[in-house]
Amino acid sequence: MKNIIEVDALEAFYGDMQALFGVSLTLAEGECLALVGANGAGKSTILRALTGLNRKLKGRIAYQGKDITTTSAEVIARSGIAMVPEGRMLFASLSVEENLLMGTLTRRSGPWTLARVYELFPVLRERARQMAITLSGGQQQMVAIGRALLSNPRVLLCDEISLGLAPVIVGQIYDSFGLIRAEGTAVIVVEQDIKRALAVSDRLICLLKGQVTLEFDAAVADMDRLTTAYFGG
Ligand SMILES: Nc1ncnc2c1ncn2[C@@H]1O[C@H](COP(=O)(O)OP(=O)(O)O)[C@@H](O)[C@H]1O
Ligand SMILES: [Mg+2]
Repeated sequence: MKNIIEVDALEAFYGDMQALFGVSLTLAEGECLALVGANGAGKSTILRALTGLNRKLKGRIAYQGKDITTTSAEVIARSGIAMVPEGRMLFASLSVEENLLMGTLTRRSGPWTLARVYELFPVLRERARQMAITLSGGQQQMVAIGRALLSNPRVLLCDEISLGLAPVIVGQIYDSFGLIRAEGTAVIVVEQDIKRALAVSDRLICLLKGQVTLEFDAAVADMDRLTTAYFGG
């Protein structure tokens, strides 16, 4: 499969603080890649670099063969990389439907419509007129995913979408990935739950202190090596 994203020797900075130290990774068309690693390892920083939210970078990020290392977040969103951010970032006092429609601001042509998002998450249709803040955490996460899908992304980045949610809801949310991936969308998930990450992804990358410490196919997971890569040692 062709790579849709290629990250080469990426360094990222917050002010003087360096968060990534030479991260290289690839994402193939239609692939699901899981990023795992302890708190502060740099997972969100990678996603923020890919979406243009952090531009204090060295190295290179290519998307569909084009260098996007200095491209603005707005242009990147319009070109088909969408993020479900950590903490969801919904507008609390807008309705579910209004929040979903925010995703259409950077809309490209493609399979995802409001009707299809409601098919994916039927509970959102029932709650369409309610304010987002009145929803459960899991339902809010569905809104955040639906909003990202409405831009019709080629690449969907999901940052800790299961954090703090009940296992049943987490199961429902990851079940939706089948349909999302059936549209050919490539996905990167940042996931604390290693078992979940293995189950949902084709490939895993483990980060430690801003560096890639291990990369392997989800089908051949070696938990001992992963533990070392995760915690160091
Ligand atoms: N806004 C920020 N300002 C300063 N440092 C930050 C900021 N965001 C993250 N960091 C630092 O960058 C490193 C990587 O953080 P992050 O990418 O959020 O890790 P993860 O998502 O893996 O938990 C950490 O040392 C963190 O403290
Ligand atoms: Mg994070």
